Amino acid sequence: MARKVEPPVPADKLPRHVAIIMDGNGRWAKKRGLPRTAGHVKGGLMLRKIIRHAKEIGIEYISFYAFSTENWNRPNDEVSKLMELMRKYLKDVYNFFDERVRFVLLGDRRDFAPDIAAMYTDVEQKTRDFDLMTVGMAANYGSRREITQAMQEIAELVKEGKLDPADITEETISQHLYTREMPDVDLLIRPGSEQRISNFLLWQSAYAELYFCDTLWPDFSPKEFDKAIVEYANRTRRFGAV
Ligand code: IPE
Ligand code: IPE
Ligand code: MG
Repeated sequence: MARKVEPPVPADKLPRHVAIIMDGNGRWAKKRGLPRTAGHVKGGLMLRKIIRHAKEIGIEYISFYAFSTENWNRPNDEVSKLMELMRKYLKDVYNFFDERVRFVLLGDRRDFAPDIAAMYTDVEQKTRDFDLMTVGMAANYGSRREITQAMQEIAELVKEGKLDPADITEETISQHLYTREMPDVDLLIRPGSEQRISNFLLWQSAYAELYFCDTLWPDFSPKEFDKAIVEYANRTRRFGAV
């Protein structure tokens, strides 16, 4: 049985969906005179830690930005190392099975090597009925690509006569995104000092509370996570009303 950790705020003040841009791995390594990839290894350990912590305090949905559609533009050796780590982490997901966490790929699986794409599909299928928390792994993720693909799917339905353009609603679009089974993002956390969204969950974060901090992702911690949760709980969300 997992250790029960008290949430930092009352349960009804917790965000339902937290999204995290895991940034700063390269700088973390550089500061220590290590190769950038050492930062990715350390960042992977933090990912594991935060998944456990989020589950223990009762977060229902959490998404992590692990690899963007733009990250293919990095040097080949860094991309290869990231793919190698992805294989390793995907295998590690099996160690999470007793945690009853559901894993969902947010991203375009077609660009991955076939073994990686197959592992994502396998993990998704094997964790499909786990219901304590859903983890969205954003890999080969780009919000613009996601929205473009949603538009293509919807256009196909219209072309086939299955959908009247007048019936396209915001919900129709949400239902064609990778996050179709997740609610909108309530809290978006970006460690690593940069104050930008970098093409992450643009549609889903329309009304998210944004939280930026200087800690680099490998130095992030459950304590920092709780700090973001407390700040979130103290914000007033107006959604355009008064
Ligand atoms: C985030 O860390 C991980 C990925 C984008 C894969 P970075 O690699 O972007 O680290 P910095 O921003 O260069 O420090
Ligand atoms: C965003 O970080 C992508 C991930 C964390 C996977 P980047 O480091 O790629 O973003 P930019 O280049 O600073 O915008
Ligand atoms: Mg970065």
